[in-house]
Amino acid sequence: MPSLQTHHTFHLPAQCQYIHHFSSSDTFLDLWHGSATNYLLGGGSNTLFLEDFEGQVFINTLKGISYRETKNSHIIKVASGENWHELVTRFLAEGWHGLENLALIPGSVGAAPIQNIGAYGVEAGNFIAAVEYRDIQTGETNERMGSECLFGYRDSIFKSALAGHILITHVTFELPKKYQPITTYGDLAKLTDPSANEIYNTVINIRRSKLPDPDTLGNAGSFFKNPVLLASHYQDLKNEFGAVPGFSAGNGVKVPAAWFIDQCGFKGKTIGGVRCHPDQPLVLTNANNASGDDVISMAQLIMQTVNERYAVPLEPEVRLVGSAGAITL
Ligand code: EPU
Repeated sequence: MPSLQTHHTFHLPAQCQYIHHFSSSDTFLDLWHGSATNYLLGGGSNTLFLEDFEGQVFINTLKGISYRETKNSHIIKVASGENWHELVTRFLAEGWHGLENLALIPGSVGAAPIQNIGAYGVEAGNFIAAVEYRDIQTGETNERMGSECLFGYRDSIFKSALAGHILITHVTFELPKKYQPITTYGDLAKLTDPSANEIYNTVINIRRSKLPDPDTLGNAGSFFKNPVLLASHYQDLKNEFGAVPGFSAGNGVKVPAAWFIDQCGFKGKTIGGVRCHPDQPLVLTNANNASGDDVISMAQLIMQTVNERYAVPLEPEVRLVGSAGAITL
């Protein structure tokens, strides 16, 4: 049985029946229908294989980039198996700005619209003009405009109505030719009139200083989503616990999950081989040959402790995969 350890960034030692690398969507559809239990993987940076997976795993290696321009925008259509950070770097080298705040996010281009990856004040959905996909059952090719993708915080239609039914083949980005730096978040606000390259380098430095490199310490980035609370719930928390950080988000207030986990004393704590990162407690790490059970125990203990103390249910941001497919905690 082939190992999945190097195919997901948490590096748990799970195996599966077979691993297919596909470089055409027709090949993908043929092979997919030949097997009953399947899992479609991008870069493996947001998926944890907790135990041996009974089925076949499909790894997307669709490649290719095409460019056109309008008077005001660069329009770039990118195949979904391209690497995200390499794409951001290439765009910058071409002088196409907009994605620099999203430098160094691990994963594939096709995964970006699914969970609407975001960091340092920017979400991928802000720049996605269209997503092309194939229906896995019928093989039909469809396209959705960005405005039809229902992008929200770590959310999109690809996580709801279309989840499990499609293969994203291409993502089309529209980047304005006019440079509009976004420096609202944290340390970026200290920069004065930064170039896109400065933002790119600053984001890379912040990420390297805060987030462990999955190549040396297995992890899947933020393990939980930041909860969005009703304004009244947030006010109750402030009344009871004092200075609770919060950022307005639509109708509610987004509170850093890291803050709750930190307050509950989890920083640096270990269960088996899993360690809650001592600098960024939203990240769980594979510190010492962790098992899937260690991951579940740590995640459940954090969720239970935070919920008991603050009445805030945390929701995993990562996808957890058991022997027969995705599971929820
Ligand atoms: N905080 C603490 N204690 C800590 C660390 C953080 O209380 O030890 C609190 C502080 O209030 C801090 C706040 O958490 O101001 C926010 O921390 P940070 O800027 O590190 O960001 P985050 O909310 O924890 C989110 C994303 C990250 C993204 C950063 C920057 C989610 C789930 N995570 O993290 O995305 O890089 O913002 O934009 O939204 C990922 O999704 O994998 C990811 C790394």
